[in-house]
Amino acid sequence: MSEQRTSIHGQWTNRTVFILAATGSAVGLGNIWKFPYITGENGGGTFVIVYLLCIALIGLPIMMAEIMLGRRGKQSPINTMIALAKDENRNPHWMWLGWMGVVAGFLILSYYSVIAGWAMSYVFRTGGGMFIGVTADGANRIFTDLVSDPERLLAWHSIFMVMTMIVVARGVKNGLEKAVTLLMPLLFGLLLLIVIYSMTTGYFMDGVRFLFTPGSIDGKGILIAMGHAFFTLSLGMGAIMVYGSYLSEDHSIVQASILIALADTVVALLAGLAIFPIVFANGLEPGAGPGLIFQTLPIAFGHMEGGTLLGVLFFTLLMFAAWTSAISLIEPAVAYLVENKGFNRIYASVWIGGLTWFVGLGTVFSFNIWADKTLSIPFLFEDLTFFDTLDYLTANIMLPLGGLFIAIFAAWVMSERSAKEELATYPKVYSVWRFLVRYITPVAVIVVFLKAVGAI
Ligand code: TRP
Repeated sequence: MSEQRTSIHGQWTNRTVFILAATGSAVGLGNIWKFPYITGENGGGTFVIVYLLCIALIGLPIMMAEIMLGRRGKQSPINTMIALAKDENRNPHWMWLGWMGVVAGFLILSYYSVIAGWAMSYVFRTGGGMFIGVTADGANRIFTDLVSDPERLLAWHSIFMVMTMIVVARGVKNGLEKAVTLLMPLLFGLLLLIVIYSMTTGYFMDGVRFLFTPGSIDGKGILIAMGHAFFTLSLGMGAIMVYGSYLSEDHSIVQASILIALADTVVALLAGLAIFPIVFANGLEPGAGPGLIFQTLPIAFGHMEGGTLLGVLFFTLLMFAAWTSAISLIEPAVAYLVENKGFNRIYASVWIGGLTWFVGLGTVFSFNIWADKTLSIPFLFEDLTFFDTLDYLTANIMLPLGGLFIAIFAAWVMSERSAKEELATYPKVYSVWRFLVRYITPVAVIVVFLKAVGAI
């Protein structure tokens, strides 16, 4: 039984380390790069409200379920699902849930790394003084120059992938923990500074209004908000499950999950508060797309006291935030190769990393030489580039689908006794969790899916 299981990959030294690592996974480009730009594209207010609802009603319960499954299974998501299904005398086909997660993580990392590369190149652009006194047009041109150059994107993407492979090869535990303890609070502090700068633009309230005043949203917007709740909390693909598998039995999953979700949400909202006032103050377009933070924040750095230094720091920290997220995206795949194929961690990381790098070429090219090559899938989306397609399929389809099955497994397949053992430290919270994950979460995911394809 699971009580005797131990992870062959080791265990977190203590609870704080787990929370840091999971927060490191959750807080990343999703909060600072993606949240503002999809909020801008989907009209603000209502989108943010739907996103917050999804965090509370879908994300949080699934996070608890994922950590719980990981801690009981103590292996990569694929083997965890096989082991848990066996414990409950259920069909081993549940392993396909693990497989979908491994594939989703790998696909996400392939484009995530390219964007992390943008952040790295911006460390040098800011450091070199390129943004001093910059105008909105100038910032836009500097961004366009970068993304229209496949060689540059490729170079940064390659560097970032190598960095990720190195940490994963050394083992997540020995990797970035110490750095994270220091860097995450620093990133938080810097975001606050930019928010304060945004207050001086005279357009702060426009930003606030954009973020929090309800407007309209369509089914696709709702799907994107839900997909992002999964993406930003690193849910639905087994990343948090794997991290949970390195967690010892005597720690509260409930408390940890709430802390992680809270930290993640606060960072995203701060990023929104930092960026939108700058957007409005400079007559920019909220729906500018994936370049949004790269076209707005440099304007702030170019006009504030000590902006060059702050800018360098900010993009460095953003790179670190991306780094701690990236490692969690391939950890499930690496853990699997180590368990089943007898690879050592170094070999496994190089294989998976190399493959991810290769798929990443598609994203590199989709901002330049493939920019006009687009794809449409009936009912779902039209005219998306390679990058947009990957992002759409993973964040809006694969992660929610993964989350749906995780909820079903935790609430309907696993025996109540097992779930109680893991989560019942707070009996009241447990009952709320059980109710949400049994009824609300799965139904909500299905309803959003149906709404997005126009079936309801
Ligand atoms: N949550 C991270 C971010 O917001 C990205 C990420 C890391 C992720 N691991 C994940 C997304 C697993 C989905 C699944 O930047």
